[in-house]
Amino acid sequence: MNGLRFSYHNVDLDIIKKNLDDNKKKIDEINKILSNESSLIISNKTTDLNDIKDVANKLLETKDTFVVFGIGGSNLGARALTNLLYGKYEKKIFFFDNIDPIQFSNSILELNLDKTGFIIISKSGFTNETLSQFSSIIEIFELKNKTNELSKSCVIITENKDSPLKRIANKFACQTLDYEKNICGRYSVFSNVGLLPAYISGLNISKIREGALSLVVQLKNNSFKEHLIGASVITYLHSVRLVNLNVTITYSDALYYFGKWYLQLWAESIGKEGKGITPIHSIGATDQHSQLQLYLDGPKDKFFSLITTDHRGQGLKMNKTILKENNFSFLAGKTMGDLMYAEQQATLKTLIKKGLPVREIYCNKIDEFRLGQLMAYFMMETIASCHLIGVNPFNQPAVEQGKIIIKDFLSGV
Ligand code: PA5
Repeated sequence: MNGLRFSYHNVDLDIIKKNLDDNKKKIDEINKILSNESSLIISNKTTDLNDIKDVANKLLETKDTFVVFGIGGSNLGARALTNLLYGKYEKKIFFFDNIDPIQFSNSILELNLDKTGFIIISKSGFTNETLSQFSSIIEIFELKNKTNELSKSCVIITENKDSPLKRIANKFACQTLDYEKNICGRYSVFSNVGLLPAYISGLNISKIREGALSLVVQLKNNSFKEHLIGASVITYLHSVRLVNLNVTITYSDALYYFGKWYLQLWAESIGKEGKGITPIHSIGATDQHSQLQLYLDGPKDKFFSLITTDHRGQGLKMNKTILKENNFSFLAGKTMGDLMYAEQQATLKTLIKKGLPVREIYCNKIDEFRLGQLMAYFMMETIASCHLIGVNPFNQPAVEQGKIIIKDFLSGV
C-alpha cells in the first residue's frame, strides 16, 4: 500500500476476517458511507488549490510571520501537517488554540503586527476561544488606530453563513475562504483548513492530497480493506477482551501533532452514549521512560499501535572514542537515528513478547504523501469503528452543555 505497511501481533486475524465476512452487509454499508464522505473525497479535488495558493501568496507578499487562531478541528490538522517541517518553516507560523491569558498576551505582544498575517479558522463562527483571540487582536489594532489594516492582515476560514465571525470578516473587509459545509471540523485536514497553513509553512499541499487520494481510490474500487481490519480489531478487542484504551506510540517528532490530531479525531468521534475506547498518545522514545512500565506490566486493557519508520543512518554521529573508552561500544560511531530505530524495534518486540495486542504501521518515509495517507487511513478507521460500535462519528453533543454554562457565567446569569 505505497508508503504504509501494517502488521498485527497477538491478534487472531482469522477471527477478524470471519467477523468481517459474517457482517458483510454492514461492512458494505460502511464502505459506501466512506466512499461518499466529503472529507475524504475532497482529496480528488485540485481546482481549489489555486484559490488557497492565491490567498496565501497575497499574504506572503507583505508578511513574514503567521498566526493561526482556531481550536479542535480548526487547529490540529493544520498543526499536524506543518509539524512535518520540524519547525524549519519557510515562514514563521504559530498556532494558538488555547486561551491561557498570560501565554497568549506574552506571545502576541512580541510580534511585529505590521509583518504578521492572521489566519482565523472556525467552521461555526461562534467559537468562544477563537472569537476571543481574534477580537483581542482587533482591540490592539483599534488602540493603534489601524483597523483599516485588518483587511490586509487577516484571512478568515468560516462557513458561508451568518455568524459573529462572518460579520466581523465583512465589517473589516477581510479576505474569506469558505469552510466546506459538508466537512466536520476534526475531519477537515484535507480542505483549506489544513492546507492554507500548510502551504504558508512551505509544504507541498498537492502531495498531501495525493497521499489521501491514493487510499480513497482503492477504497472506492474495493481493493483496500486495511481500515476495516483495523476497526474490526479494535472493536473486537473492546467487546471480547475488555480493551478500553487505544494507545498510539509515534516514533518521530514530526508526528507529535499527528498524535494530538488523532486523539481529538478518535475521542470526539467515538466517545458517546456511554460507549467508546479512550485514546492515548505516547512519544517514542521519551515515554519509554514514563509510561512503558505500565504498558508492559499493568492491566491488559490496551491495544497498541506503533507508527514506525526507518531512522537508521540519520542525524548526528556519536563520538566513537569516548563511548568505547566508557564501555559503550555498541553505540560508538552510530548515528542517533540508529539508536532511535533500535529503541522502536525493542519496544515493539517487548510488547509482542508480553503477549499484548500490537499493530505496527510502518511508514518508509515521513513526508507530505505518507502523512496524507496516514491521516486518511485514520479517518477511515475512526468512522468505520464508530459505525461498528453504533455511534455517530460526526457530532459531539455532550460538549454543548458546557458552552451554555460559559455563556451564562459570563453574562452573570
Ligand atoms: O471537530 C469538531 O467539530 C470540533 O472539535 C470543532 O473543530 C471545534 O469545536 C471548533 O469548532 P469551530 O470550527 O466551529 O470553531
